[in-house]
Amino acid sequence: MASEPHLRVSHVTKRFGGVTAVDDVSFDVPKGAFATLLGPSGCGKTTTLRTIAGFYDPDHGDIEIAGRRVNDLPAHRRGTAMVFQDYALFPHMTVRDNVAYGLRVAHVSRSDRERRVAETIAFVGLKGLEDRWPNQLSGGQQQRVAVARALVIEPQVLLLDEPLSNLDAKLREQLRVEMRILQRRLGMTFVYVTHDQEEALSLSDWIAVMNAGKVEQAGAPWEIYYHPKTAFLADFVGAVNLVAARVEDLADGMVTVRFGAHQAVVRRPDAELRTGQDVRLCVRPESFAIAPAGAPTTGIALPGAIVRRAFLGDTMRYWVKVDDREWIVDQPDPGGSATLDGPVSLSLRPDRVHVIAE
Ligand SMILES: Nc1ncnc2c1ncn2[C@@H]1O[C@H](COP(=O)(O)OP(=O)(O)OP(=O)(O)O)[C@@H](O)[C@H]1O
Ligand SMILES: [Mg+2]
Repeated sequence: MASEPHLRVSHVTKRFGGVTAVDDVSFDVPKGAFATLLGPSGCGKTTTLRTIAGFYDPDHGDIEIAGRRVNDLPAHRRGTAMVFQDYALFPHMTVRDNVAYGLRVAHVSRSDRERRVAETIAFVGLKGLEDRWPNQLSGGQQQRVAVARALVIEPQVLLLDEPLSNLDAKLREQLRVEMRILQRRLGMTFVYVTHDQEEALSLSDWIAVMNAGKVEQAGAPWEIYYHPKTAFLADFVGAVNLVAARVEDLADGMVTVRFGAHQAVVRRPDAELRTGQDVRLCVRPESFAIAPAGAPTTGIALPGAIVRRAFLGDTMRYWVKVDDREWIVDQPDPGGSATLDGPVSLSLRPDRVHVIAE
């Protein structure tokens, strides 16, 4: 990846009347990256994407693509293409004509057009369906037409607005994999919008989590998942134990925290901390080992009792009461181990405890 950003969004604000949909948002996307904007409904994802695409003028800020400010360029001259959430296929055009549309508008010669359309249709796996109408296609096929229609114009940056959200879970998972393979194969810069954390974590090189028009945190999926800066982020990107704690001591990149009757020395986060401060511990459910009471423990030992459990297929999720609070604990591969009940002891790895100082 080049160090120069391929897409730069700097200090972009977009208002609609009294609503600030996007509030001073800045981020860089390197060339060839799969970047994702993740956030709850109404947080400003679509507005950000449409501003990059040139469908909205920002009230403040700049959009740069390949080192060039594009604020004053119309949408079709920015080198971007957009895949819309509802696909927005032309109902009165066949698959072939839908895909050809952008090339026709750009006055690409007929022979070139036919070649590129045929290549792109084959590329997204729609060969044989060229003469169908959109209403004769499944949701997944319509989605491919929408992607083909955007790809055929060979954009520098492809913008995708929740392209999988209308599909059933199984197909969504399949197309998710295809989307990633496609992006790698093309080496194209993708900016992908979703409110689905699993989709974001599994697809992206980089994620910006948005909330109320702002980017709360941006970084690698791993970083966002294990080292969220706020409780909102911790909760938004997956199941989590958020535990009230107090800073007892600070030394050498480590912090001693007390929670209930327990004490632990854990990694110091990249945040201001002082002794006596109230903080929260963020612990993902898969960070524990769980064993019947009395079994040897490692790391932070938490004796407790199982209150509830849920079989999730690939994991067994337990709710374990330790002192006066319940912890969510996931045990992988439940088919391969005995189902537990009653008193247990949890072993928690200190390197999986993240301190949130808000
Ligand atoms: N054209 C518009 N006119 C007025 N308000 C708008 C317009 N478009 C968006 N908004 C408002 O701006 C805010 C952000 O909307 P946006 O569509 O960007 O959210 P989103 O993150 O894409 O949400 P969703 O996940 O539901 O698609 C919302 O409060 C929305 O009501
Ligand atoms: Mg949206």
